[in-house]
Amino acid sequence: MSNTATRKILVTSALPYANGAIHLGHLLEYIQTDIWVRFQKSRGQQCHYVCADDAHGTAIMLRAEQEGITSQALIERVSRDHQEDFARFGVAFDNYHSTHSDENRYFSELIYTRLRDKGHIATRDIEQMYDPQKGLFLADRFIKGTCPKCRTEDQYGDNCEACGATYTPAELINPVSAISGATPEIRSSTHYFFKLPDFVEFLQRWIDAGHVQPQIRNKLMEWFESGFNEWDISRDAPYFGFEIPDAPGKYFYVWLDAPIGYLASFKNLCDREGIDFDSYWAPDSDAEIYHFIGKDIVYFHALFWPAMLHGADFRTPTAVNCHGFVTVDGAKMSKSRGTFIKAATYADHLNPEYLRYYFAAKLTSGVDDLDLNLSDFAARVNSDLVGKVVNIASRCAGFVKKLGDSTLSAHCTQPDMLARFIAAGDVIAEDFESRDFGRAMRKVMELADEANTYIAEKEPWVLAKQPGHEQEVLEICSVGINLFRQLMVYLAPVVPAMAEQAREFLNLETLDWHSRHDVLFAHEIKKFKPLMTRVERDRIDAMIEASKEDLVVEQKLKAAPKGPLAEEPIAPEIGFEDFSKVDLRIVRIAKAEYVEGADKLLKLTLDLGGETRTVFSGIRSAYAPEALEGRLTIMVANLAPRKMRFGISEGMVLASANDEGIYLLSPDAGAEPGQRVT
Ligand code: 2FM
Ligand code: ZN
Repeated sequence: MSNTATRKILVTSALPYANGAIHLGHLLEYIQTDIWVRFQKSRGQQCHYVCADDAHGTAIMLRAEQEGITSQALIERVSRDHQEDFARFGVAFDNYHSTHSDENRYFSELIYTRLRDKGHIATRDIEQMYDPQKGLFLADRFIKGTCPKCRTEDQYGDNCEACGATYTPAELINPVSAISGATPEIRSSTHYFFKLPDFVEFLQRWIDAGHVQPQIRNKLMEWFESGFNEWDISRDAPYFGFEIPDAPGKYFYVWLDAPIGYLASFKNLCDREGIDFDSYWAPDSDAEIYHFIGKDIVYFHALFWPAMLHGADFRTPTAVNCHGFVTVDGAKMSKSRGTFIKAATYADHLNPEYLRYYFAAKLTSGVDDLDLNLSDFAARVNSDLVGKVVNIASRCAGFVKKLGDSTLSAHCTQPDMLARFIAAGDVIAEDFESRDFGRAMRKVMELADEANTYIAEKEPWVLAKQPGHEQEVLEICSVGINLFRQLMVYLAPVVPAMAEQAREFLNLETLDWHSRHDVLFAHEIKKFKPLMTRVERDRIDAMIEASKEDLVVEQKLKAAPKGPLAEEPIAPEIGFEDFSKVDLRIVRIAKAEYVEGADKLLKLTLDLGGETRTVFSGIRSAYAPEALEGRLTIMVANLAPRKMRFGISEGMVLASANDEGIYLLSPDAGAEPGQRVT
């Protein structure tokens, strides 16, 4: 162990909203944070990583209403989905909580009352648009109307997409509520404000003290120049959130209690594990606190948040670490191009550790956007992880097994090279510490090149064919395995699942940073199994296609009539000719099987009255295979075959779905396989 004292570190990532799926844009942040946290833990620091769902606000309330469920039910379901996604990507929080929790209510009330008692809260009446049909005050984005400048219709309440004009909702011509379509009224109500201007000098000092990156400081300085307004922290009922203690019918705005969720999640962890909360959050704390966020929410984290904490007698963060946005193939993620990729869709097709490595290889400590170039992604992962790193172990393992009976040589013939690999760990650690993961990965790959060159020059596979060179081959390969071990120590924070397999193969207790100093002599290793396979282009293509399908499902859900009186057509009209192109057939499900590695699919063998088809269908959650065998259903028989990860799907069976389940269509008794459905 190093002799410096253990650091106490608390780390957070931004809390995802509880009304949407995690996508690749989110994952950049969680992967960045998780790598940094794993690195700190590998170095022996006392590091806690907490997060939570951001569960409050109008959007969540309306979404739940649209789905016909309670807000509580929505946030519980989404929290489960989020946690499942994070687990698939190896994002290992020490605690995952919710802003809709007792701890968060407690801290929100505490911070608010402390600020109020010190005079940092003001109240005044404001006029706002109100939807008389829904009984709801409308935020600007929930009002639409005609632009007062260029007269383009259907523009949002604060700016015109056609001419770029900005205005207040009251200026819109013919404003309507985007929620109910009703004409809004102007109503007055009392709002509560956090007096941010009270903290200008404090914030100026805080920002100058290096708690944000230089680019962020510049942005903040622009905001300082234009001056600060008081921040409206209240919303009127109905609102899904916490009621303000001394203000019945008024609720904390979601962005007030969201960052307080960091405290709440950590408190929840402290109570469970006996950690001293105050030693992290009291003003005299010697702990370090880091928030990882996207550059779009700097205002909240580098202005409101430190001011609120300071005003309420908590300590402020050590640093707010911002990152840029993810682009795919050089452009903003796009639903129609299939590049708006959900975490689950990615993980259904590709190994999450590819993405962890690719993000790491491109991350810096700055705030520039990061492009996921799909060709470069495949090439980089294949060349670095598979071609360079795994290659070292796979070239050496067989000889160690054969010539050393799986035991490495008892001495090291390359002590200098090994010492250099070990020493490199100190420099690589500096890069990890400063979040220059790309630089760290370049250094690791330079070492991997060196290790491969050593093995290539020694040609153990040539020597192995010459009698009497067995010991020399074992020594070369033992050096190779030791070098591979060093690399895996450095890569473990980035590719933890691969590192875990490597640890088993190396037969070691740990791959922690300091463990690398013990070189492996006369050490038994285990059977080598391939640690990572190559990225295949067809999997990437299938992921893009599946993302396009995600969009179709979303549109169907949005377009689905909410009740029998739905007025809008649910899809554009088609002619009979179009319909007759679809060959619908009665089929008998001859066989239904689980598909290994696909938790949503069943493989169906369909009998069309002579001909047989294989179809992969996403109905696993609703049907046990044995319950389907023998049953009649309807299929689209002339759908072009689609190549899926598990095989080719030759058509589609028809089913409907809602929150409760999936419903396969059945013909009445008497229908026979092969008959056309018209
Ligand atoms: O921008 C967002 O997705 C917010 N839900 C982030 C909140 S971070 C913190 F303040 F809670
Ligand atoms: Zn306009």
